[in-house]
Amino acid sequence: MAQIKILFGSQSGNAQNLANVISESLTNAGFDSPVLDMGAIDPENIHDMDYVMIVTSTYGDGEPPDNASEWMSYLKFNEELNLSHLKYAVLSLGDSYYPHFCQCGKDFDEYLSKHGGHSLVQRLDCDLYFEEQYPEWLSGLIDVLKNKLQE
Ligand SMILES: Cc1cc2nc3c(=O)[nH]c(=O)nc-3n(C[C@H](O)[C@H](O)[C@H](O)COP(=O)(O)O)c2cc1C
Repeated sequence: MAQIKILFGSQSGNAQNLANVISESLTNAGFDSPVLDMGAIDPENIHDMDYVMIVTSTYGDGEPPDNASEWMSYLKFNEELNLSHLKYAVLSLGDSYYPHFCQCGKDFDEYLSKHGGHSLVQRLDCDLYFEEQYPEWLSGLIDVLKNKLQE
């Protein structure tokens, strides 16, 4: 079964819960989609991952949640990385009250792309009403994955 790994960065549980809900939808669509805590996985493992979805919130002043900070540093400060094997999608959670809205998701998208990763769909930046915002995006992503992985 085709696999897409869901990596979450979350401080107070929203992104973690959403990652689990998305995993259920992907499983129903026929994909193996394990949910992984970024804080529990060494970022070097990204070299063994083909399809990845990052679901992350933003904290502080546009910073990653604590459990995503090591991944962010790895992608930001390793100039030599080659991620041309990687297909990825980013879903960011944030709050437009803050000046650096969804900055963590924007940064992940920027660094993954800078290192040669291929974006499967345009990143989705969600506000506090993310439960209304993500389903349409997810259904577009599932269509793309079906085309790529279930040919
Ligand atoms: C102290 C604090 C700082 C935050 N800073 C930002 C921010 O800079 N940018 C943003 O878009 N959202 C910010 N948020 C909003 C969170 O990203 C948002 O509530 C998200 O849904 C939390 O998801 P989580 O529970 O997975 O961590 C902040 C929230 C808190 C409580």
